[in-house]
Amino acid sequence: MNHLHPLKGPNRFKLGVFSANADGGLAITDVPERWRARWDDNLNAAGIADRAGLEFFLPIARWRGFGGKNHVREWSFETFTWAAGLAAVTKQIGLFMTVHVPLLHPVYAAKALATVDHISNGRAGLNIVCGWNPDEFAMFGAKLSDDAYGQAAEWLEVIERCYGDHQPFDFQGKYYALKGVVSRPASIQVPRPLTMNAAFGAPGRDFAAKNCDFLFSTFSNIEDGRKHYADIKERSKLQGRDVGIYTVCHVVCRETQKEADDYYERYAVTLADHGAVDNHMAQKKEFSNSHDKNAFDLYRKRFAGGAGTYPLVGTPEKIVEDLVKISKEGYAGAALTFVNYTYELPFFCDRVLPLMKQAGLRVT
Ligand SMILES: Cc1cc2nc3c(=O)[nH]c(=O)nc-3n(C[C@H](O)[C@H](O)[C@H](O)COP(=O)(O)O)c2cc1C
Repeated sequence: MNHLHPLKGPNRFKLGVFSANADGGLAITDVPERWRARWDDNLNAAGIADRAGLEFFLPIARWRGFGGKNHVREWSFETFTWAAGLAAVTKQIGLFMTVHVPLLHPVYAAKALATVDHISNGRAGLNIVCGWNPDEFAMFGAKLSDDAYGQAAEWLEVIERCYGDHQPFDFQGKYYALKGVVSRPASIQVPRPLTMNAAFGAPGRDFAAKNCDFLFSTFSNIEDGRKHYADIKERSKLQGRDVGIYTVCHVVCRETQKEADDYYERYAVTLADHGAVDNHMAQKKEFSNSHDKNAFDLYRKRFAGGAGTYPLVGTPEKIVEDLVKISKEGYAGAALTFVNYTYELPFFCDRVLPLMKQAGLRVT
């Protein structure tokens, strides 16, 4: 039995794929080859990543789209069932599920997560999000809370007790009052599958520092990333824990810098889905704490290119230079997005992975 989760493997800088379960991936574009996120697309992309030895496949949790011409993200696969499907056909890649804490009961989440951990033989991972989009919450008759991370702490405690308590247990918290809880099977991973918290602000950082294995976060530039990293490390030190930090980048990797720059300009400026970019940025600015405020003024192209994440644009050599910088700041890895994962991942894996090995970032 394989009990070593891929995120605990030997590579110094881990790589994953983000948001292939949703229309557009992270891009907001109208190019004809934009990502449709059909099931076959997901199977193909996961197969490429799995065979290339990337460590993880990580979905976005999205319930509504951002309008515009293509209703970007409106089409997205639910992440437990998505991961279960991929678990059965992949061999080594870690499979995350991204879950909105307030929208899913923890006893249900515990069982679903354990199921994927069994199907995948210990490759499951839980990405905890507290959410930010009031329109999505309204679909569930729910409201965003000021104490989302207080609820998340209880939520995760219930899941851990589901796996750890061998007798039925009662739970009395502020958010959950539960009687006689049992949940079998427990996850294969002990005490529970790896957890990540996708967050940016201070309460999310503290929650991850106290409760999770990893924080999944963003930065606008490497300098901010350095401060962000130091802040989170300090918070986790105060908890007596060492929380790994991952970031997320959108990638345009081409043979020449000019080709990469031209394509970035084409999909993220000339043929951006401008209506959806406007909606996405306006909603994020108003409701989400996921970016520094100046990011919205400076980086419209990055929002069209990859929902405001950090861009890796250029030749394989340039991309490895950037990854070396990110790794030097201490980041444990990055989740990557592409305009079209199945078209672009093979070139990325063929050309970037060997250079990462030469640069000492990866051994496999
Ligand atoms: C890297 C990253 C990935 C995220 N992924 C999701 C997601 O899949 N679905 C979602 O609703 N929110 C997602 N979020 C948003 C968080 O849930 C959270 O609402 C947001 O970061 C603002 O709150 P915070 O200050 O707690 O970070 C993500 C945030 C980050 C930084």
